[in-house]
Amino acid sequence: PEYCSQIPEAWRFDCYPERGVVVTEEMCHARNCCFIQHSQAKTSGRNGVPWCFYTPDYPSYELVSIADTEIGKVGKLLRNKKTYYPKDIDELQLEVLYEEDYRLHVKITDPTEKRYEVPIDVPVIQKRASSNPSYTVDFIKEPFGLIVKRTQTGTVLLNTSIAPLFYADQFLQMSTSLPSRFIYGLGEHRSNFLHDVQWNTLTMWARDVPPMELTNLYGVHPFYLSMESDGMAHGFFMLNSNAMDVALQPAPALTWRMIGGILDFYIFLGPDPSSVIAQYLDVVGQPAMPIYWALGYHLCRWGYKSSDKTWNVVKEMRNYGIPQDVQWNDIDYMDHALDFTYDTTNFSTLPDLVKDLHRHDQHYVMILVHTHFDTITQESFVWPGLTAFPDFSNPDTHEWWYQNLKSFHEKVPFDGVWIDMNEPSNFFDGSLNGCPENELENPPYTPGILGGTLKAKTVCASARQKISTHYNIHSLYGLMEAKATERYRPFVISRSTFPSQGKYSGHWLGDNRSQWKDLATSIPGMLTFNILGIPLIGADICGFGGSTTEELCVRWTQLGAFYPFSRNHNSIDEQDQEPTAFSPAARIAMKEVILLRYSLFPHLYTLFHHAHISGQTVATPLLFQFPNDEKTYGIDKQFLWGKSLLVTPVLEAGQDHVVGYFPKGLWYDFHTVSHISLETLLEIHNSLTLDGEEINLQAPIDKINLHLREGSIIPTQRPNTTLWVSSGQPLNLIVSLSEDGLAKGDLYWDDGETIDTYEKDQYAYIFFTVEQVEKMHNTPRDPHDKCAAAPRPPPPQQPLFLEPPNTFNFSKQRDTLCCCA
Ligand code: GLC
Repeated sequence: PEYCSQIPEAWRFDCYPERGVVVTEEMCHARNCCFIQHSQAKTSGRNGVPWCFYTPDYPSYELVSIADTEIGKVGKLLRNKKTYYPKDIDELQLEVLYEEDYRLHVKITDPTEKRYEVPIDVPVIQKRASSNPSYTVDFIKEPFGLIVKRTQTGTVLLNTSIAPLFYADQFLQMSTSLPSRFIYGLGEHRSNFLHDVQWNTLTMWARDVPPMELTNLYGVHPFYLSMESDGMAHGFFMLNSNAMDVALQPAPALTWRMIGGILDFYIFLGPDPSSVIAQYLDVVGQPAMPIYWALGYHLCRWGYKSSDKTWNVVKEMRNYGIPQDVQWNDIDYMDHALDFTYDTTNFSTLPDLVKDLHRHDQHYVMILVHTHFDTITQESFVWPGLTAFPDFSNPDTHEWWYQNLKSFHEKVPFDGVWIDMNEPSNFFDGSLNGCPENELENPPYTPGILGGTLKAKTVCASARQKISTHYNIHSLYGLMEAKATERYRPFVISRSTFPSQGKYSGHWLGDNRSQWKDLATSIPGMLTFNILGIPLIGADICGFGGSTTEELCVRWTQLGAFYPFSRNHNSIDEQDQEPTAFSPAARIAMKEVILLRYSLFPHLYTLFHHAHISGQTVATPLLFQFPNDEKTYGIDKQFLWGKSLLVTPVLEAGQDHVVGYFPKGLWYDFHTVSHISLETLLEIHNSLTLDGEEINLQAPIDKINLHLREGSIIPTQRPNTTLWVSSGQPLNLIVSLSEDGLAKGDLYWDDGETIDTYEKDQYAYIFFTVEQVEKMHNTPRDPHDKCAAAPRPPPPQQPLFLEPPNTFNFSKQRDTLCCCA
């Protein structure tokens, strides 16, 4: 019909998302959809304009009743026309929960039969927060639609009426318009930080594969952050763990397509990006406070052939005075790749190595993969050969795991655990005997999973686990294993992740390659995991697969010194890539930048404290600090630590300059402590606008560009070869005055090791402020202001270096240290 062609291309919602089929007119009309062939071929992954799309009046649900409840509304939805997928659920219950002024929660369930729901703890709210939330909710009766707007601006944050709602047993679909094309999150994928909305489908289903674009990867995170046109931001979380597609299109709009569970989602009103993340983490959980040495430099590789070889690497690092807090072992240490064993021939000195590390205030982490298990659920193949997968959804497994960790710890006193292959990964599809034929293995719709089936390189979807089928909880395997492991040791790094993971573990970006491209893509990966609540994140420094070059490894160590989790890791049979493996010049450059990281430890530790107590990012996208500067929206070659330390790494070969973007304001060069002022910029760039400017910075091979934003105070420490906090290294403050002569900053300090020091009041928290005297003359002063009594030296030309008190009483302290410049 004619109205089909009147639907703008960007607004065509795919009625035939199945992969690998070329849709014909006949097939499309069988679904009662519009068919218009488009020249752009429809391929899997990145679809073009759909040829087969819904009509505006396509049958959906009707809202037949809606009533008030204590906390919002409850409604009834009815469908009277079948969809083209089996087992439509004709009657649905809609619950709209006004949980907080800034948080809306919506649940759409089957009122007659309980469906699978994701087993993570979320807040249970009894009463409506207030009668004045920052959102309004409108309902469209038929076809049913939900419209959520920001009260203050009228911006539409959710509008599900733009395409039909599906709710069949194995196919749930909901579309929404987006207020802009600026959308972030939706991990784990390899992409730019800013997602592309040009017909870009992101599939989620935990999968072991070296990271590549347009593929489902190790983790699953159905959360996005969306920018509105006025610098405001909101977030959206779909609490669902089934295999899914998230289809982005240029309208801009987004379609959730899930093959099980329920529709259970949250909208977070921000209004600034940082608040959105904090509000999201209020629901899924704030990240754990890492033990201090987790923030040190870690060395690892697959293919240290013996404990003595591993030990030699540590000794070499010590000889050259290169900081190292943690030495790791990959599967090489195991006896026939079996968990909780070690090779008593080649790794006979492992217990001694670990004791030696401890004597030097260093720590040891080893890998665990899959294992032999008595109650075999599924037989498969991984490193040890025939393998079984512990069912971490069973509390008995947690107990068994705990006991194994404990008895292995008696032999090898490890400090942390690396849990790998927990997608879970399988060298076969399904099991040795394949998988049964049933509707879980062959759902009516399969999202765009690599390999085309749910069982591809994992266990059978219909495998039974304690709490549900693998079909439902596959992507939770890494989360549940991390939870079981963290109970025994406070430091866990996991390859597979799911929302709330940050409470139990950190993550690394998996099997990257020693290539410049992989160096660059690690920044969007790191930023995305920061907004997903897993700030303890990094990529394998110098690259995992393939052989690195000296130049690449130096540049990578420079960037890696600013990964919140900083580990050099290498694959088997590749050339050595520890800092000690290179020329003196390269080695010195690496040592310098690791020392720089160590000197910034008090600041980094404080940033993690803020992540832990209030859901702040550690590695921060520029747009979080400059949401009104649209030029920052696509930046993922630079990032901030916290709010004020700007990192501009070199990401290409053969460069001695790097172009960085400097948002409006005053920026100090961290190394030379001279500042880039607007006047200097004007001299270099006539075209400078007040919205910020790109600057070409010198970047010789031994330098990473680091700039301090005006108005900040950063606590630092004289670096040592380990981070041991009680070592008594002097602390310093670096102060960068704003144009108004002000600066502020803070320090969280505890013994570095005790768990929950904040919760137990065993810490010091000090807030620093500095005001410049000259400017202060104009400002009437508060006579009760402690700072007023401080001495007033003449105003400085450069950032200040101050020494705060070096010893603290670890009892609850919230103090302000004042100083006048
Ligand atoms: C996986 C891990 C990698 C590890 C290897 C051997 O590929 O991702 O980091 O080195 O297994 O255990």
